Amino acid sequence: MLKNVASLSPEEKKTFGKSLNELRADVELEMAAKEKEIRETELQHAENRFIDMTIPAKSQGRVQHPIKIVQSQLIDVVARMGFDVHRTPNIATEYENFDALNIPSWHPARDMQDTFWLKDGRVMATHTSCLQNELLKTKTPPFRAVYFGPCFRNEKIDATHDILFEQMEFMVVGDNINIGHLKHTILTMLKELFGYEPKIRMRPGYFPFVEPGIEVDLWWEKDGKGRWLEFMGCGLIHPNVLREGGLNPEKYSGFAGGFGLTRLAMIRYGINDIRLFHENKIEFLEQFTVG
Ligand code: PHE
Repeated sequence: MLKNVASLSPEEKKTFGKSLNELRADVELEMAAKEKEIRETELQHAENRFIDMTIPAKSQGRVQHPIKIVQSQLIDVVARMGFDVHRTPNIATEYENFDALNIPSWHPARDMQDTFWLKDGRVMATHTSCLQNELLKTKTPPFRAVYFGPCFRNEKIDATHDILFEQMEFMVVGDNINIGHLKHTILTMLKELFGYEPKIRMRPGYFPFVEPGIEVDLWWEKDGKGRWLEFMGCGLIHPNVLREGGLNPEKYSGFAGGFGLTRLAMIRYGINDIRLFHENKIEFLEQFTVG
């Protein structure tokens, strides 16, 4: 129609041309609006399809395992205390799990931890201490580290023993680190976790990778009755362990301590059978989930 305007009389050009221009403006407006609408519905569809991979998994699931609940509370506490958090391996070398910790192959202390050996000579980690050597070699003192992970021991399974349980261990290395620092660290962690400072008892205990070695008992009251529960092993890092980690024991000292997260969860929630942790029953798990 616009092409035909040229052949019209001046009078017709005026009226016809005018309405033609108006029509064109209307159509263009209409088209722009339609285009916008199409774009928006496309975008809407795309948004509906979008899965946000950054949402933390825990807000998508319904229940949390009691060990993970205790673990995340502990991570909260130790992070505030300036500890780096690490994960320990499932499989360790014999060196990492034993020799580097002052437990050579002839040492009777090897019998304290009944071990699953792999055909290639490695072991299923028997304790989180298997990360000590790597931490000593890779970190620069002064440092504070906490490390969590699974421990495997060839146990006969019953209500209090399982072949798999979780431990948490902490290690601090620096100048003039002493037992006072160790005790304060333990008490602060427990106080932050429980909301009150529990009574603890420190007595001599033997672990080849610490000297002196200490066992810590925790006073636990339930239904008006209290008793001491064996809770953790700890001590000042043995000079041989520091040396094996590439640090001069004349210059540096430190402490380490470890306990069973599984055991802590059992004490905390009054769970009386360790086997429940691995049954994966929703009825069990639901009891610990808040919110
Ligand atoms: N690894 C020891 C255990 O599993 C606990 C421990 C850790 C003891 C650190 C001393 C220092 O029994």
